[in-house]
Amino acid sequence: DTHGTAVEGVGTPADPRMASGEGTQTLTTRQGHPVYDNQNLRTVGSRGPVTLENYHFLEKISHFDRERVPERVVHARGAGAHGVFEAYGKVGDEPVSRYTRAKLFQEPGKQTPVFVRFSSVIHGGHSPETLRDPRGFAVKFYTEDGNWDLVGNNLKVFFIRDAMKFPDLVHAFKPDPVTNRQDGQRIFDFISHTPEAMHMITWLFSPWGIPANYREMQGSGVNTYKWVNKDGVGVLVKYHWVPQQGVRNLTQEQAEQIQAKNFNHATQDLFDHIKAGEFPKWELCVQIMTDGEHPELDFDPLDDTKIWPEEQFPLLPVGMMTLNRNPENYFAEVEQAAFGTGVLVDGLDFSDDKMLQGRTFSYSDTQRYRVGTNYLQLPINAPRKHVATNQRDGQMALRVDTAPGQNPHVNYEPSVLNGLTESAPAGAPHEPYVEGRLVRQKIERTNDFQQAGERYRQHEPWERDDLISNLVTALQPAERVIQERMVALFTQCDPDYGRRVAEGLALIPQKEPVAND
Ligand code: HEM
Repeated sequence: DTHGTAVEGVGTPADPRMASGEGTQTLTTRQGHPVYDNQNLRTVGSRGPVTLENYHFLEKISHFDRERVPERVVHARGAGAHGVFEAYGKVGDEPVSRYTRAKLFQEPGKQTPVFVRFSSVIHGGHSPETLRDPRGFAVKFYTEDGNWDLVGNNLKVFFIRDAMKFPDLVHAFKPDPVTNRQDGQRIFDFISHTPEAMHMITWLFSPWGIPANYREMQGSGVNTYKWVNKDGVGVLVKYHWVPQQGVRNLTQEQAEQIQAKNFNHATQDLFDHIKAGEFPKWELCVQIMTDGEHPELDFDPLDDTKIWPEEQFPLLPVGMMTLNRNPENYFAEVEQAAFGTGVLVDGLDFSDDKMLQGRTFSYSDTQRYRVGTNYLQLPINAPRKHVATNQRDGQMALRVDTAPGQNPHVNYEPSVLNGLTESAPAGAPHEPYVEGRLVRQKIERTNDFQQAGERYRQHEPWERDDLISNLVTALQPAERVIQERMVALFTQCDPDYGRRVAEGLALIPQKEPVAND
């Protein structure tokens, strides 16, 4: 029950706790007082003035005044659905237990309930769903070992590889603090100083930056995680969601046509398909690499601006997710849902990916502010299993997380007075050896342009045309020095890439038309 309002016996017709004249549908205040007039303030004569003891009104209006909570600082606009994840028990052709002991993956056919929230990133809670943006793809698995959140995006890479830069990146893309408008000048001022973003930019400004909807869209964990087996041996993994509906993206022009008529099209598409019983599915695949630095590769496996080439690191299926139930209440389930990269279960672990480690602090930090200290007690966020902690109190504490039979006086550990006790370890610990100087340095193998150039050449011709046209439009408001800096970066990815953007911006004479037909 996602609303959690039912109290046993209350509201049944014979309930002695109901006031005379009160039926099960009777409107009450939050204090339980039946309301006999919900239309008129209590006033001195029919024309007022109003008296301050209108308590029913004060309660009603002051709750209304507090209906909004802060929206997410990023990914404010979203849509969600419930579903189920079914494991294959294998990773590719091998038993999955060889690489991870995470229980949800072990047995073929094992089902784990999930909740998914899709989102766009930059603009507010009711902004058009046709905007060019990465799309969030966040999955909460309610496993028997507690929750696992896989907080990913539709694109497989990201703009930056160091969490230190995230607030600056987001500020550059968010509306200007003076004009309150998104501004290509500000975006490309920042990006022209961020060469590692070129791969992401080459995806984002192509049609891949506007997925047709949330169903026909890929997902990716983007950051590098680890899997740990029962012997404590870890491997590096990347996660990918492969949509069984296929992938469909929009040109800028197609998106503009949709936006003119419907700026909720992706939310509507997801809701309507699930309502009609046409349940979208995604296969979860992983790429696996032995733990280590892999000096033989031309990229660093912990660098989230790079993909792991699929010829070398094939996508190995591990299970299938089906979304089969719409939320009953948007606020309670979708808005209050709180996902975070720190939310892992036994058998899954962090890698040293600097972005992942920075993210892991940020999510629950913002959620304590956005939703509240006790956000994990809300039904959408609470694990669907035994929860027993010694954490107590705080705003809106809904219940005390004690175990049945636990001595209620003992909210500390250890104790001999029947308090909570630690569990047995689930397997050998994963204990990587770490040594080095504490430094502020970027990684050595940055290789910022190679995969961006490959992506440019791998785009289909119509995608490449749209990419150039979108970049030229977005760069139009930027000062010439910023345009030139960007052209220099595109040229390093591929000379043709740089030339076409430069021609579109009339920085060099045009040789062939660049516009999309
Ligand atoms: C949402 C921080 C990078 C995917 C958020 C939120 C914060 C945040 C504060 C709002 C959470 C909330 O209010 O519940 C960061 C930081 C990053 C980072 C500090 C880098 C250091 C990324 C990356 C991805 C990503 C690389 C993709 C893999 C998401 C998604 C959401 C989100 C999908 C929305 C989750 C939802 O639907 O509730 N991020 N983020 N973020 N972020 Fe990140």
